[in-house]
Amino acid sequence: MSFVLLHTIFTMATVLITGGTGLIGRHLSHLLKEKGYTVGILSRSGKQKKDDFPVYYWDIDKQIIDPKAILSSDFIIHLAGENIGEKRWTEERKKEIISSRILPTQLLFDAVSKSTHKPQAFISASAIGYYGAVTSEHIFTEQDPAANDFLGNTCRQWESEADKFEEFGIRTIKIRTGMVLSPTGGVLEKMKLPLKMGLGTLFGTGDQYMPWIHIDDLCCIYLKAIEDSSMTGAYNAVAPEPVSNRQFMQTIALTMHKEMRLHRIPAAVLKLALGSMSEILLEGSRVSAEKIINSSYEFRHPVLQDALNDLLQIHHSK
Ligand SMILES: NC(=O)c1ccc[n+]([C@@H]2O[C@H](COP(=O)([O-])OP(=O)(O)OC[C@H]3O[C@@H](n4cnc5c(N)ncnc54)[C@H](OP(=O)(O)O)[C@@H]3O)[C@@H](O)[C@H]2O)c1
Repeated sequence: MSFVLLHTIFTMATVLITGGTGLIGRHLSHLLKEKGYTVGILSRSGKQKKDDFPVYYWDIDKQIIDPKAILSSDFIIHLAGENIGEKRWTEERKKEIISSRILPTQLLFDAVSKSTHKPQAFISASAIGYYGAVTSEHIFTEQDPAANDFLGNTCRQWESEADKFEEFGIRTIKIRTGMVLSPTGGVLEKMKLPLKMGLGTLFGTGDQYMPWIHIDDLCCIYLKAIEDSSMTGAYNAVAPEPVSNRQFMQTIALTMHKEMRLHRIPAAVLKLALGSMSEILLEGSRVSAEKIINSSYEFRHPVLQDALNDLLQIHHSK
């Protein structure tokens, strides 16, 4: 089949994005539209349109999903889930974080199993939390098992629900995502004010790794997962340059040409303030980007300083 024909088929395809109203979904839906895809959003709010995209309604508790959402989709990208950094991890909150990933995946599976129309691929978000909140010299690859801690167990169960789509012969991909850096929203937004005042933060020792990815790269990896039919299984979505918390802050200072005072928040204080959620700030190992690179993905922003230049809109004359 010629490249032109293949391109035409793909550009006519419809992609359904669950949680498409969130940080990644908003960015991804615009990228897909630019590339010629038709995009639909599956949302609990079910408004008629969001940024020109049709919005389909679902209610996970009531097991309701608009059947048109499934009937019209050639690809499903599943991003929905409670934000893990939004509230303190009480036992109740942990249950919400898990069930907001498992139950929607099961509802989608049920809807797809009943539908006469099956998507070509099911592409689910996952997270590098799969490997656990641990600081070590090990470089985690997709071959490593899930950790036996809260995020490890959450991601393992979430991924195993996604894997069920393979029963229908649907290509299934899981994108184990690192910390997403975006020009608006997300972690950088939260850091902007203190950074402008020249204040950087070290969490605990500052030696833990912070695997990161530029939002453009993450969205291009989702696009590749649609278009590259050889992609299947889990892929780490992290930039190839590993940095520690300390290096991250030093790079921001360098990028902004600012004298940065590094302000340390001791681990005990973070634990007191955030409870067990503090582990996502205090622990971190390197995660390998080799598998996605070996499948011919070329990072647009492999180096943190370039990514930050782009995201913080700092352009230096040469
Ligand atoms: N951002 C990151 O740094 C990062 C890193 C690793 C992994 N991820 C994963 O990637 C996915 C998307 O991330 P994001 O940053 O775009 O998240 P986000 O901004 O928090 O958006 C997630 C979307 O999921 C839907 N949602 C929230 N709670 C839900 C619930 N209880 N049941 C069903 N749907 C719910 C919401 O859409 P509606 O209100 O329209 O239904 C929301 O807009 C998440 O699953 C996240 O865990 C993100």
